[in-house]
Amino acid sequence: MNVYRGVLIAALLTFLQGSCSTAPAQTKAAQSARQLAPTPPMGWNSWNKFGCDVSEQLIRETADAMVSSGMQAAGYQYVNIDDCCQVSRASDGTIVADPARFPSGIKALADYVHSKGLKLGVYTDAGRLTCQKRPGSFDHELQDAKTYAAWGVDYVKVDWCYSEGLDPEVQYAKFRDALAQAGRPIVFSICDWGVKAPWKWGPATGNLWRTTGDISDHYDRMSVIGFSQNGLEKFAGPGHWNDPDMLEVGNGGMEPDEYRTHMALWVLLAAPLLAGNDLRSMTAETKELLMNREVIAVDQDPKGVQGHRMWDEGPLEIWVKPLADQSQAVGLFNRGESALSITLNLRALGMSGPAKLRDLWEHKDLGPVQDSYTAEVPKHGVMMLRVSQ
Ligand code: GAL
Repeated sequence: MNVYRGVLIAALLTFLQGSCSTAPAQTKAAQSARQLAPTPPMGWNSWNKFGCDVSEQLIRETADAMVSSGMQAAGYQYVNIDDCCQVSRASDGTIVADPARFPSGIKALADYVHSKGLKLGVYTDAGRLTCQKRPGSFDHELQDAKTYAAWGVDYVKVDWCYSEGLDPEVQYAKFRDALAQAGRPIVFSICDWGVKAPWKWGPATGNLWRTTGDISDHYDRMSVIGFSQNGLEKFAGPGHWNDPDMLEVGNGGMEPDEYRTHMALWVLLAAPLLAGNDLRSMTAETKELLMNREVIAVDQDPKGVQGHRMWDEGPLEIWVKPLADQSQAVGLFNRGESALSITLNLRALGMSGPAKLRDLWEHKDLGPVQDSYTAEVPKHGVMMLRVSQ
C-alpha cells in the first residue's frame, strides 16, 4: 500500500515538474505561432500552375498582380515560391538559388515583395532532396533557417520527399527549433501529406500541416480531399491550421459550380487560402470567386473554428462553421449528378425562427426564415449562407 502511494506521489511530482518546466516555453511558442497566423494564411503559391517553371520575373509579376488585381486588398499577402528554386549548396553548405532563374538572388526578391506590402515564402524538404530532386534540408535545418532569416523570408513550406527512415514528428520539430533559433518570425508550413497524422503533433510544431496528398485541378480529387476533412476540426485553431492543400480556382479544370464548391469548402474548413493560378491573367469570374469578401470573411473569422459536416443524406451534405458574432456559416452541398433541393432546418443549427439568412455568393439577404429554408442546388454546386438570429 505504502509502496503504491509512494509511486503515485513520485509520478505526480514528475508530472508537476514536467509541466512547470515546459509550460512557459510551450506558452511562448504557442503565443508566437498565434501571432504569426491568427487566421489561416492567405496568399499564392507557384506549384499548381507553374510547377518547376519559377523565376524571379514570375514572382515579381505575381506580386505586382496581387496588388493591382485587388487580391492584396482582399487579404492575400504571401507570395510563395514552391519547389525548384534551389539548385545546389555552396562549399560552406549554404543553399543556392538557381542563378539563371533568380539572378538577383532571393534577398533582393524579398525586398521587392516587401516593398509592395507583401510577404515572401520559400520551399524546402525535411528529407535529403526535394520532390523535384533539389537539395533538401536534412542535416542543414539550422543553416537553412538562418539563410531564410537573412534573406528576409516570411513563410517556409517544408515537404517530405526522400525522407526514408525519418520520423516526421522528429524532423519537423527540428525545423521548428531551427526557425526559432534563426530569430525571424517565419510561418512554418508542414507538408507531409498526412503521414503520421500531423494534426496530432502539428499544433505544437507548425502553423499549418497538410492533411492529405496533392490536390489536382479536377472536381473528383478536390472533393475527395475537401469532404474528407470532417473530424479534424478539433485540431485547428488560431495559429495552427489543417491544410487540405492549395487552391486550384482559376486553373480551368473545373466547372464554375465546382470551383464554388472548392472555395466554399475551403473557407468552411478554415483552410489556408493559397491561390494556385496565374494572377496576371484572371477572368472576371475567377476574381469574383477568389475575392468575394463575404466568403473570405468566413475563412478569416477571428473565432478560428474549423467547420464540420452537420448532416448528410446520399449526395447531399450540410457543413457548418460557427463565427465570432454568434452567426453561423453554412454550406449546402450537392455532390450529385443533377440539381437537387436541400433543406436546412434551423433547429439543427441550434436556432429558432425567425432567423436572418444571407446568400454570400450573391451578397443578398434572403429575408427572415421561421423553421427551415430550402434551396435548389446545382450538380456539384453549393449554396453558401450566413445564418444569424
Ligand atoms: C509535393 C507537395 C506539393 C508540391 C510538390 C513540389 O510533395 O505536396 O504541394 O510542393 O511536392 O515538388
